[in-house]
Amino acid sequence: MKCLNCGYESEIDQNQILCPKCGGLLEIIVEPPRDFSFKNLQGKGVWRYKDLIPGEYKTLVSINEGGTPLIQSTNINRNLYFKFEGLNPTGSFKDRGMTVAVSSAVSLNYRTVIAASTGNTAASAAAYASRAGIKSFIVLPKGKVAIGKLAQSILYGAIILEVDGSFDVAMEAVMRLYRDLRIVYPLNSFNPWRLEGQKTIAFEIVEEIGVPENVIVPVGNAGNIYAIWKGFNELLKTGEIDKVPRMIGVQAEGASPIASAIIKGKDEPEFTDNPDTLATAIRIGKPVNWKKAFKAIKSSNGSAIIVSDSEILESQKDLARKEGIGAEPASSAALAGYYKALNEGIVNKDEKTISILTGHSLKDPDSMAKAPSKRILVNPYYIEKIITGEINGFNS
Ligand code: F0G
Repeated sequence: MKCLNCGYESEIDQNQILCPKCGGLLEIIVEPPRDFSFKNLQGKGVWRYKDLIPGEYKTLVSINEGGTPLIQSTNINRNLYFKFEGLNPTGSFKDRGMTVAVSSAVSLNYRTVIAASTGNTAASAAAYASRAGIKSFIVLPKGKVAIGKLAQSILYGAIILEVDGSFDVAMEAVMRLYRDLRIVYPLNSFNPWRLEGQKTIAFEIVEEIGVPENVIVPVGNAGNIYAIWKGFNELLKTGEIDKVPRMIGVQAEGASPIASAIIKGKDEPEFTDNPDTLATAIRIGKPVNWKKAFKAIKSSNGSAIIVSDSEILESQKDLARKEGIGAEPASSAALAGYYKALNEGIVNKDEKTISILTGHSLKDPDSMAKAPSKRILVNPYYIEKIITGEINGFNS
């Protein structure tokens, strides 16, 4: 393990979440087994790749996460693929990380877990804690969590703590709690063990279609883009692949501390105290994993893109109406980012490109209902007349 802040190095230690020397974020450096080969793997989902996931696990807390479909676009561009993470057990990619982190928590004898969240981490943490038979506390920005996600956390039985302020305020509180009082296990992505599960997105892509040219990821707290890049890098070490795709991070206009800085060529993010976007999942002003995201984007020769809320909603509609895929707004940013990358010449339409659709549309019914609709209150008698065109104006 290596600290990104002070350079501290140690053997892999499952008890370490933050650097014991300076409190900075740790990277887990995996040396894959010499004889690693996809051909020898068994099973489906995250734990299919257990040879590349360090740590010792007394039990695996799993709800059969991962193994999500890679869906080729038919109507936008045949070279574009969607990795539909919305089909995980709680409807987002978070489940991949949660199975590893909660299994770790249980193996280390923790009985309580905690996570700050814009909604998806909370739903996932609550579900996996219930599966493990342990207690979960989640800390949410009050009034800023999509109703589907809040309802999930209620259903799974988490203890919900709401703070006045953004996700960043909730995140700071959880980090402080972990630093000061180590009696609860933190399930946020500053915990590097969670990212060990999320990196399997890269493994599944490669097993299915090899290495794409570009991978486009919506960025919030900035753990996932790094996790996916890490996965590709580990496959490079095994010799299964010979290059890493360009990692392209997308942020929303009102919450773009990383993308703004990268576009301007800066080495540090432009933090904001008042992030704002209708893509509430990525409404984050101070991403804790920014150093990891910078590393993934820069070392893969990647890029960063900023999209507006209206571009996000337009892309959400395109995904649904051109491809039949329902994704939540933050996930739709991965398509909005693809459109922009094409326009700006960052991506070529002939290049194989993957958009990571991080969460399901049902998470955020309010945003779906904002799409323009053809919805008519009818007397049943008129239905035939509308369909046959006898009453004009509806059948187009
Ligand atoms: N997409 C969705 C649907 C998310 O829920 C998140 C993060 C992201 C993208 C960004 O991923 O943080 O790794 O850069 N949601 C977190 C949460 C913050 O609390 O659910 P990231």
